[in-house]
Amino acid sequence: MTLGMSQMLNHVTLGRCEEAMKGLPGGSVDFILTDPPYLVRYRDRSGRTVKNDDNTSWMDPAFHEMHRVLKPGKFLVSFYAWNKVDRFMESWKRAGFHVAGHIVFPKHYASGENFTKYHHEQAYLLSKGWPAKPEHPPADVIPWTYTGNRLHPTQKPVGSLKPLIEAYTKPGDVVLDPFSGSGSTLVAAKELGRRFIGIELDPDHQQTATLRLQSRFIGSIVSPPASRFHTPVAPREVYRQPVARVAEAVAARQRHAPAALGPR
Ligand SMILES: C[S@@+](CC[C@H](N)C(=O)[O-])C[C@H]1O[C@@H](n2cnc3c(N)ncnc32)[C@H](O)[C@@H]1O
Repeated sequence: MTLGMSQMLNHVTLGRCEEAMKGLPGGSVDFILTDPPYLVRYRDRSGRTVKNDDNTSWMDPAFHEMHRVLKPGKFLVSFYAWNKVDRFMESWKRAGFHVAGHIVFPKHYASGENFTKYHHEQAYLLSKGWPAKPEHPPADVIPWTYTGNRLHPTQKPVGSLKPLIEAYTKPGDVVLDPFSGSGSTLVAAKELGRRFIGIELDPDHQQTATLRLQSRFIGSIVSPPASRFHTPVAPREVYRQPVARVAEAVAARQRHAPAALGPR
């Protein structure tokens, strides 16, 4: 059964996003900030994997739906794998998005190495139509902190997502993350007074995100108050008590809860 806007708003819907988004009217969301599978068969040191990281069947339908539900003149920020950029770009363009910018998130640690040490994460800023220039465009280099991946094998730091939400939305706007994982985008949106729509395929992650958003102190971050001009200041990832309890619940659920997790 497909849910509608009112049932999905401020919730994390369980299911395949390419199907779930069909319940949202066209032009109904103000901003999409998402971290889809990277198509790299990711496996961390403790063996955790990411669903749909080994196939592209979800890609075109998901980005097509994202373009449909986004309001004209608004943005999608999508993380992607640098070595799969051609496949991602093909799908974004096929869906109708324009390339509006590129964002780099430098890491103080290497999340892997081959011919280079991997010291950054990256995302494209894509637009539906041609939006007006934001009042305070964010820097395209945004500091990154290692989350410890306690809630998800590829957990993104909330503090690095906030400047983007602040720049491209206003309070009360609807922020969509169709690949929510542990809900980092949704936490950032909620903390900034935006409404959110999350979708997640994995029931464990959907539960983690829901618990995290229901915690009284949802903040897994203490980011410096974003300056009016989004000056990048390194955010600090701090787990307050309730979020630590979510992390414990998640660890307890995982049979072989890892002590040390490989960074990404
Ligand atoms: C890279 S992770 C996102 C991690 C997230 N940014 C966080 O901070 O926790 C991608 C997520 O997309 C989910 N996923 C994969 N295919 C999906 C689909 N078709 N619909 C919805 N979620 C999907 C995976 O289960 C995974 O949790």
